[in-house]
Amino acid sequence: MRRVAVLISGGGSNMEALVRDMQAGGHAVPVLVVSNVPGAGGLARAAALGVPVATVDHRAFPTREAFETALEAALAPARPEILCLAGFMRILTPGFVRRWEGRMLNIHPSLLPKYPGLDTHARALAAGDAEAGCTVHLVTAELDSGPVLGQARVPVRPGDTPEALAARVLEMEHRLYPAVLRRFAAGDRRPVLLP
Ligand code: GRF
Repeated sequence: MRRVAVLISGGGSNMEALVRDMQAGGHAVPVLVVSNVPGAGGLARAAALGVPVATVDHRAFPTREAFETALEAALAPARPEILCLAGFMRILTPGFVRRWEGRMLNIHPSLLPKYPGLDTHARALAAGDAEAGCTVHLVTAELDSGPVLGQARVPVRPGDTPEALAARVLEMEHRLYPAVLRRFAAGDRRPVLLP
């Protein structure tokens, strides 16, 4: 069974959706949840689900490379085969990405290639888009630009605020990411398209 580590920085709602689906589906096993932020809410959620946790505080390291060396040292004992970035808010160096290329996934709250980077919902609303959504992709050295493994579309509603749209997209993220990981863990690279 594929061994999966999940990297978080915050609440970890996507991590929880992934872990619950792995525990229900048996297609993969969550071997570790790592946060770069001490005390991140997702750490308690992971522990409550019985998943080992670790914290590697990026502020404790002088360089990105030093942080990533510590991150790899925290990951190694769990022997993960797949990394899922889930609300992980650190940009990884090309060296780290290269070491994990083809085995590291990320979820981004927009219909890539539209709106890489931050504030995706405000940008979609400002552009007057009729729909928004989220994308799961393989991580490559260029930010938010790797091969798409899944996308979920969400209609924009009149009067939508970025917060309201974000909440609606997040619900779809919780469906999309587990569906993509099931396929990816089975070696199937066909994109998952929702709804
Ligand atoms: C989500 O919108 C996700 O798309 C982005 O981080 C946000 C928070 O995710 N990457 P989570 O609740 O911490 O999983």
